[in-house]
Amino acid sequence: MRIHLRAVPIASLGLLLLVVGLGVQAQDCEVNMEWVGVPPDEYDRRFASISEPDGRPLGFNRSVIPYVTEGIPNPCIRVTGTEDRRVEVMAESTPVGSTICTYRQGGQLECNAAGIYFCDQATANEIKYEFLCEGTSCEQTDVPFFFRFTISPPASEMDPELWCDNRDTGEYPRTLSGPLPPGVTMAPNPQTTRSRGSSHNYAAKSLLGICIVAITTFAINY
Ligand SMILES: *[C@@H]1O[C@H](CO)[C@@H](O)[C@H](O)[C@H]1NC(C)=O
Repeated sequence: MRIHLRAVPIASLGLLLLVVGLGVQAQDCEVNMEWVGVPPDEYDRRFASISEPDGRPLGFNRSVIPYVTEGIPNPCIRVTGTEDRRVEVMAESTPVGSTICTYRQGGQLECNAAGIYFCDQATANEIKYEFLCEGTSCEQTDVPFFFRFTISPPASEMDPELWCDNRDTGEYPRTLSGPLPPGVTMAPNPQTTRSRGSSHNYAAKSLLGICIVAITTFAINY
């Protein structure tokens, strides 16, 4: 009983150290890139910018999460000038679908296969974001990804909380659409739905027809 009572505070301390340790580790990656932003009114909205090595589609930049992490560090990007600001973090793998992750300032790992999005109050004048990849989609190759950090205007100009609420959370490079091949015109979406619907109708009608024939045959024979 005595041992148990003594073990409790020791275990708590151990747990605390572990949590603190993980938190520190999360933000303590070795910086290998400095974030250079693009002013929003200068965003490149061309589809072609996605495949240009120096392209900045919608202000995003690109990097690669290495498949073999031994010896090759994960991207660790430093964002500066964040004091008293909100920071919006967006990232998506290319092609979309690999579960990429980054640590939030509190040490919480944020992962998303459809695209990372969060908007946080900065707790310091610089924040490091390490990007890593999780899951089977990352086990065989390097994972290229796009990322973007946007820092809110000073609080004197705009309520930081409102700023986060008013952001366009769906503005990823994948939303830029490509040019159509020559001679092809884009079919409006409703038509695609309708044609799919009509093929269902066709199947339903065929089934109904078969049933009627079967019932009729049955009735005639008996
Ligand atoms: C992003 O891309 C530009 C090229 O437009 C490059 O000069 C810059 O260093 C890149 N890195 C970061 C982390 O912004």
